[in-house]
Amino acid sequence: MRILFLGDIVGRAGRTAILQKLSTIKETYNIDFTIANCDNASAGFGINKNCYQELIDAGIDVLTAGDHVWDQKEITGFINDAKKLLRPLNFPKSAPGVGARIYLDHQHRKILVIHLLGQIFMKYNLNCPFEQVEEVIKNNPLGKEVEAIFVDFHAEATSEKMAMAKFLDGKVSAVVGSHTHIPTNDFHIQSLGTAFQADAGMCGDYDSIIGMEKNTPLQIFLHKRKFDKMTPAQGQATICGTVVEIEKNGLAKKIFAIKTGGILENN
Ligand SMILES: [Fe+2]
Ligand SMILES: [Fe+2]
Repeated sequence: MRILFLGDIVGRAGRTAILQKLSTIKETYNIDFTIANCDNASAGFGINKNCYQELIDAGIDVLTAGDHVWDQKEITGFINDAKKLLRPLNFPKSAPGVGARIYLDHQHRKILVIHLLGQIFMKYNLNCPFEQVEEVIKNNPLGKEVEAIFVDFHAEATSEKMAMAKFLDGKVSAVVGSHTHIPTNDFHIQSLGTAFQADAGMCGDYDSIIGMEKNTPLQIFLHKRKFDKMTPAQGQATICGTVVEIEKNGLAKKIFAIKTGGILENN
């Protein structure tokens, strides 16, 4: 089984690239199931109902929300009905939506997708992602009913992401990070069979500062004040993603990164 994970989708540029190229990417790499992070899909902040539908219709099977999950006001009104959208698992139980769910691929194989937020350098003071993920996996162990477990760990610190990868080695198919918008070159299979990459990167315009039109964030760094609204850069996006090939026992056989379009292509 091959799972494709796409890094944070940023604004219209990111969505347009996905609409134009996802079906070719899926065909080229024989993808069975596609997960994408939608942290910045709608005007750079969170996801609204229209963009959710647009991305699902484009061929994404599951969207993971990231730390901007609550930025679009309408999210709380539709997340409970949007079964293909996961919010981070480690919010309090009172939060709408869920953070882990079992999905079926086109061959009716069960895939458990878990979405976690990190605790280091993040704005929320959330429940421990290690304790939370352990509980979910205890109830749905790999290799019984569930044929693959994919964890999107949306976090800032690479150390926290590596710690999660070690914690889950042999227990899940893959731990792939999101949130920093920069693809890391550390993808590998760990000793007990879990694939890992600290960050998949973003689906957005890299002629920017992490996907945003460069002048506004640059002014903040220079003058410590914000002069304008942050808006996503509108140039051609690079689609950054990671492909994980999973064996029948649920462990990973192969992991590699892809970069398609925009200024990062073939780098
Ligand atoms: Fe994020
Ligand atoms: Fe993001």
